[in-house]
Amino acid sequence: MEIAEALSNHDVRTARRYFRAHGRPDLTAIPGDRGLPLMGHSIAALRNVHAFMDRQYARYGEVFQFHAPRADGIFLLGPDANELLFKNEGKFFSNFLAWDLTFANIFDNNVLERDFSGHKRHRKILQSAFRRPSIEGHIEIMDPGIAAGMGKLSAGRKNKMLPFIKRLLLDVNAQVFLGENVEAEADKLNKAFVDMVAATADPFKRRVPFSPYVRGMRGRKVLEDYVFGNIERKRASDGRDLFTELCHLTDEDDGSTFSDQEISDHITFLLFAAHDTSTSALCSVLFAMADNPGWQDRLIAEVDSLDTERLTHDHLDAMHDTALVIQEALRMYPPLTMMPRYTLKEFHYKGHTIPANSACVVSALFTHYMEEYWSNPRTFDPERFSPGRAEDKQHFFQYIPFGGGAHKCLGLHFAQVQGKVFLHHFFKKYRVSKDPGQTFKYNNIPLTFPTNGLPLTVSLR
Ligand code: HEM
Repeated sequence: MEIAEALSNHDVRTARRYFRAHGRPDLTAIPGDRGLPLMGHSIAALRNVHAFMDRQYARYGEVFQFHAPRADGIFLLGPDANELLFKNEGKFFSNFLAWDLTFANIFDNNVLERDFSGHKRHRKILQSAFRRPSIEGHIEIMDPGIAAGMGKLSAGRKNKMLPFIKRLLLDVNAQVFLGENVEAEADKLNKAFVDMVAATADPFKRRVPFSPYVRGMRGRKVLEDYVFGNIERKRASDGRDLFTELCHLTDEDDGSTFSDQEISDHITFLLFAAHDTSTSALCSVLFAMADNPGWQDRLIAEVDSLDTERLTHDHLDAMHDTALVIQEALRMYPPLTMMPRYTLKEFHYKGHTIPANSACVVSALFTHYMEEYWSNPRTFDPERFSPGRAEDKQHFFQYIPFGGGAHKCLGLHFAQVQGKVFLHHFFKKYRVSKDPGQTFKYNNIPLTFPTNGLPLTVSLR
């Protein structure tokens, strides 16, 4: 069977066999160097991937080699490369063969790792769960949960914002995704989920006792058991949580529905896709607000102007300044700094021959700081997204915090809505400040995350 067909059918066994059969690609025709003996570029990239990309770009241009102990690949930088990879018009790229290294067996069969026609079918069905009427239902669940969670901050002193946001989103999303009556099992499910997330970062993913991978696989079983144990009840219910919605979704063309296994695979992946990304985004926004008190005042004024106890989608639509701030935070600190793909055939791009069977990455982080597209890219300036300036509109693929093309983030509106609900309740009650001279300390790999828990002072307004 041809590999593209196997990928379309999500024939995992054939795809993995194909991957194993192809060793490291020959990248000698691609500009660049091999980095350090054995370690390649891994240390430089892990230390500061932004500086690494800037350096290699200055030396070699938009296309260069990358070497690490377990992988070689090609960086393709800039909006044209983003367009090539996201549109994937020549079917050059596979998602499965790139993402399987991360998700292997833990978040199996998710929509991001599906390819071509098989991906299209799953995405088409899932999309209905992210339309406005559904999101209105999600707001109804998350609004009181987030409002209540704000009470857990200690006013008048420093709080580590990262663990606070992480916990709050974990609890709230358990309800939005799995249903209101999840409380009794919330701790067990949250732990299972956290173990699954940790397992994705296990580089070996072998069945070694006590390894993150083994714990993650156990976590998967806990979540699967929960889903299978509740599926019949959910199929008969009219709740507004995502689990219930997934049980009712149908393919508009042939009327088919997701199987129990597909529902389980999709819901666990949605939890994953939503969690660390949104936590990362909210950390960046809160640091930016501590760093830019003028913008914080504007958000507080916007929150006060809404004057409501119960948020609706219409209220959130009116939070224009908050939207600009979120957009700018996602430009400067995109949670997913790089997006990987795997080439299925050789092709030519800007004078380079890109070989088949190689890993390629594009970078939101790099593109978001290109001086050709952004004025003073290192300055926090949300107005750059205002209709009058619209700096982001010069190239369709210059602003890609949510990716683009066929795999563009399905939860984009959900994420913006949740961010606004969080910021509404936060600024209704508090102000946030930082120490003089305090800078934002963060890593960009695997996701943009504060390295010190993000200590910020929270005071009652
Ligand atoms: C600020 C928060 C978020 C950011 C920055 C973000 C970013 C991204 C990016 C960059 C991709 C594309 C990856 C690629 O092409 O390789 C993606 C895909 C995806 N995201 Fe998000 N995401 C966020 C929140 C969410 C939320 C809240 C959900 C679900 C409720 C979600 C669900 C998904 C799904 C299902 C995909 C795969 C879509 C497909 O393959 O068709 N994301 N996200």
